[in-house]
Order: sequence, then C-alpha cells, then structure tokens
Amino acid sequence: MFKNNCAVCHGAKAQSTPNWRTKLADGSYPPPPLNGTAHAWHHPMKALEYTVKNGGKAFGGKMPGFGNILSQQQTKEAIAYFQHFWNDDIYNDWAKRSGLK
Ligand code: HEC
Repeated sequence: MFKNNCAVCHGAKAQSTPNWRTKLADGSYPPPPLNGTAHAWHHPMKALEYTVKNGGKAFGGKMPGFGNILSQQQTKEAIAYFQHFWNDDIYNDWAKRSGLK
C-alpha cells in the first residue's frame, strides 16, 4: 500500500529527503520523513488518517488527499507501514497520544 501510493514522495523506507526542513522555491516544504525522525509521531491516529485522506491543503501543504483512492483499511495499512520504522519509545508515546494506551 505504502510503496504504491506514498513512496514516490516519502521514500520506499519513509525516509524522504534529508533536506525536508528546507523550503522549496515555491515556499512549500518537501515531503517529510515518516520513519520517526520527523514529527509524524506527534500526531494521534485521527490526525494521521485525516492527513492521508485529505492531504495537506488544510494547512497550506501540497500532499494530495487519498480519500477517494484508499479505503479506511488501506489507509491504516499505509500508516502501519511507516510506523514499523518507529522505535518502541516513539510508538508508545504515539499510542498514548492516540488514546490507545
Ligand atoms: C505527491 C507527493 C506525496 C504523496 C504521493 C504522499 N505524500 Fe504525504 N506528504 C507530502 C507532503 C509535501 C507533506 C507535507 C505537508 C504538505 O505539504 O501537504 C506530506 C505530509 C504527510 C504526513 C504528515 C507528516 C507530519 O510529520 O505531520 C503524513 C502522515 C503523510 N504525508 C502520509 C502519507 C501517506 C500514508 C501517503 C500515501 C497514502 C502519502 N503521504 C503520499 C507529499 C506526499
């Protein structure tokens, strides 16, 4: 799921680009890593699902929304894929924020 839909921007291992903090010429930011080195794990499950469904438009971003392309289950699979790169500390912190612990 992740490889087919997300890897083109976020990288096959969700590593993205080392320069993700540097604005592009048009004022937007490159796709951030989702592998635990950026801040995707600060966002509870609902927020992650929201971003994947609706894309980045709501906060001035450029990520396309996948609401019409991926089912709820497929969205969760894509999220689970990049979460498997997180270490236990990050995952546990995220699970607390998501009300799962
Ligand atoms: C066309 C490029 C592109 C594709 C394809 C893409 N993204 Fe993104 N993604 C971005 C960009 C750029 C951002 C940063 C916010 C913005 O500009 O919209 C982002 C942000 C995110 C965030 C928020 C990260 C954070 O630190 O808050 C998540 C989660 C995410 N993407 C997941 C996914 C998933 C899962 C897929 C596949 C279903 C996907 N993205 C496909 C470009 C993309």
